[in-house]
Amino acid sequence: MQDSLKESFLKDISEITSLNDLLNLKAKYIGKKGIITEKIKNLAKLSLEERKSQGKILNELKQFIEELIKNKEEELKQKEISESLKKEFIDITLPGKNFYFGGQHPVNKTLLEIIDIFREIGFTVEEGPEVELDYYNFEALNIPKNHPARDMQDTFYVSEDVVLRTHTSPVQVRVMEKKKPPLRFISPGKVYRCDSDITHTPMFHQVEGLMVDEDVSFSHLKGILVYFLRRLFGENIPVRFRPSFFPFTEPSTEIDIGCIICSGSGCRVCKGTGWLEVLGAGMVHPNVFKFAGYPEGKYTGFAFGMGVERLTMLKYGIDDIRLFFENDIRFLRQF
Ligand code: DAH
Repeated sequence: MQDSLKESFLKDISEITSLNDLLNLKAKYIGKKGIITEKIKNLAKLSLEERKSQGKILNELKQFIEELIKNKEEELKQKEISESLKKEFIDITLPGKNFYFGGQHPVNKTLLEIIDIFREIGFTVEEGPEVELDYYNFEALNIPKNHPARDMQDTFYVSEDVVLRTHTSPVQVRVMEKKKPPLRFISPGKVYRCDSDITHTPMFHQVEGLMVDEDVSFSHLKGILVYFLRRLFGENIPVRFRPSFFPFTEPSTEIDIGCIICSGSGCRVCKGTGWLEVLGAGMVHPNVFKFAGYPEGKYTGFAFGMGVERLTMLKYGIDDIRLFFENDIRFLRQF
């Protein structure tokens, strides 16, 4: 009789898979109204002899069941823990998610470098409008209507008298109209020309420079611009001045550095000459002072202008200007 009870318990417990079911099983056998509990209660009705033998068997069976339930409970708890651990498993050996850093645009990097160099030697920064009057872009720079120099610049016209500035030189006159010498400033900004190929884009950046005082000479121009180029391209960079022409300077010069790619032996970038043009400059033309309203003959000064994209291309060996404006992250991340 108690053997079949034991067997049925063993069968029951073997089918248990959850803690909840185990609690029910515990109640069924050894709970308040459990089978074993009832049997123990009923012992009182038996004779002393039977009570003794049955009592012993029932107690042993109860202990056996308690023991098994305890073990099963432990086993189920462990299973639950390991299952939830399996679900929450984090594989710390997996590669992390990529995290992209932004970076400074190479053109901006060069621009800031240029500004820093000139700031250190006492130049301030001035700005002018990108939508500019024909007057400041041309007339006041000694480029009258029908002057052949206008053809050098492919101008975007907004109206007959208004253009997108083709260079930063108009800032020279705008500042001189407002301020008296001594003047020492640079003017960085965007300029526009109707031109597009691997070395030209319709918008690019220039930095203009102007220094005006009572005794500014060509040797100031030379000293400052050679100093600037050595700071930007390194102490040993070869520099040469070539005579040139700009309507707003006289005399005018174009400044070359030794080719950075071939070190002067001649290559595709320098077109075999060993030299790269990097700056236009000259002594401010008396007519420009006149347009600015300065008294005749009182002041002298020099001006210069440079293209920031071009300098950046040379500095980093980039051969297509359009890369600057495609914003391909693989390109930009290299700087
Ligand atoms: N504005 C000229 C250009 O865009 C560059 C330039 C040349 C600026 C000589 C100057 C200068 O101030 O003196 O090509």
